[in-house]
Amino acid sequence: MHLKSTRCFAGPFRNASRRRRYIALMTQVIITTKANGPLIVEGPVRIVTPDGRELTPPARKDGKPAEVVVLCRCGGSQTKPFCDGTHKRNGFQDGQVTPG
Ligand code: FES
Repeated sequence: MHLKSTRCFAGPFRNASRRRRYIALMTQVIITTKANGPLIVEGPVRIVTPDGRELTPPARKDGKPAEVVVLCRCGGSQTKPFCDGTHKRNGFQDGQVTPG
């Protein structure tokens, strides 16, 4: 039995072509944990709020559009979900990485 809901996660991926395109896009995304700092997200991603608004990552210091998305991992940023550098001042320590 399949639930007829537009919110069903599997819905968009039942189509084999769409599933292949999604997987191809996901293999282009790299997420790197920076030691005692943020998550660096490289690749074609969109950051969307719970109510569906798309957020634009902050521009680089030189004013050019960001080429990567830098996400806060310490919880201290004033611009969540983006990192604002607070992790350098609040003593954030990420501990040991657990192997998968
Ligand atoms: S990780 Fe940079 S402000 Fe939280």
